[in-house]
Amino acid sequence: MAALNGRRILLGVTGGIAAFKAAALTSLLVKEGAEVRVVMTENATKFVAPLTFQTLSGNPVHIDMFSPHLWQPEHVSLADWSELFVIAPATANVIGKLANGIADDLLTTVALAASCPLLIAPAMNDNMWRHPAVQANLKTLEERGAFIIPPGYGRLACGREGRGRMAEPEVIVEAIGMALTPKDLEGVNVLVTAGPTREYIDPIRFVTNRSSGKMGFALARAARDRGARVKLITGPTPLPPPPFIPTVRVETAEEMREAVLEGFEEADVVIMAAAVADFRPEEALPLKLKKDQVSELNLKLVPTPDILAELGKRKGDRILVGFAAETDRLIENALQKLRSKNLDLIVANNVLEPGAGFESDTNIVTLIDGTGKAERLPLMSKYEVAHKVLDRVAAMLKGDARKG
Ligand code: PMT
Repeated sequence: MAALNGRRILLGVTGGIAAFKAAALTSLLVKEGAEVRVVMTENATKFVAPLTFQTLSGNPVHIDMFSPHLWQPEHVSLADWSELFVIAPATANVIGKLANGIADDLLTTVALAASCPLLIAPAMNDNMWRHPAVQANLKTLEERGAFIIPPGYGRLACGREGRGRMAEPEVIVEAIGMALTPKDLEGVNVLVTAGPTREYIDPIRFVTNRSSGKMGFALARAARDRGARVKLITGPTPLPPPPFIPTVRVETAEEMREAVLEGFEEADVVIMAAAVADFRPEEALPLKLKKDQVSELNLKLVPTPDILAELGKRKGDRILVGFAAETDRLIENALQKLRSKNLDLIVANNVLEPGAGFESDTNIVTLIDGTGKAERLPLMSKYEVAHKVLDRVAAMLKGDARKG
């Protein structure tokens, strides 16, 4: 199921060059299953034709305050219809109007009439972005509950480099998902690990595994969406960093251990989805091992620290969730790990099952709690699996399910 299935999103487009990115945003939202309606300022129509948004959203585009074909004033019907209003791009001018309650066109009038969450993705020249008036207006809007999606750094339409580029459509979609998710983990500190580790043989060769980081990233995103303060520690992965989540990148099991221990003190919940290498070469050579130096190569491997087992020994009140990547005797092996590492929940996956485990966007998992009770879940996206895991965590935090 697409993440925004059936959600009613009103997209406000104002007059800046980044309006062209709003077209990509519309298309992404529709792909995620959302129903999108677009309201444009007159100035926005100078950058992108309304027909573009009409075609991409499948709905008429709203520009005029006074449409004769509607039974209700249009600003009221649009405001009542929307579950979320996102203005992307938002110019300095529109931000100023919103902060001061000015309603002199359809878009700004809808913003006053709407009681749904408001997301603002500013886009402007870097001097305008830094201007105290703009910053003060943004602060006012934030204090009233609007969520500002910060602009990125890069080449601006004026030819300069600086901060002011509208956030990428993918980032705005993440922010929308966040805004629409109920916040049952507000204020909870969640530490998530993801990805593989690399254990070096020499500076260019290493022992690793197939983990892509997708499962751990999905957990971090889902926890963030539910209001948790998330810290993500990840081994090497080509995945882009998940927006709005402080992310620490590490390479080896030892580095992951250090980063996890650093975040452990303030964590209420730790979820270890990382595929930490269990062994490393006894010695990492400082220079490249040349082929003609040896006729055969015997690598002596020694165990890496078992991070989760170490956390289990000093967990206090924290909730510890582990994963078990298995190829046989799934439940038996996972239960053994749950007990030996002193976990509250273990997420067992048979990595040989099609659609499960490494690299795929989906997983098939069995959740086993502290009592040993197992629940097998059907194939679902890793983001959906993440929510199922967090449902258990939320119940444990309420104090009614730690012991099953
Ligand atoms: O990253 P993806 O491509 O999305 O793949 C997802 C996944 C298959 C990696 C994920 O679903 C998963 O199963 N993660 C755990 C992989 C693993 O290392 O399992 P394990 O059974 O070997 O380890 C048990 C638990 O101990 C895990 O929580 C692991 O993070 C932890 N561990 C393991 C070894 C070690 N030295 N230190 C640890 O903390």
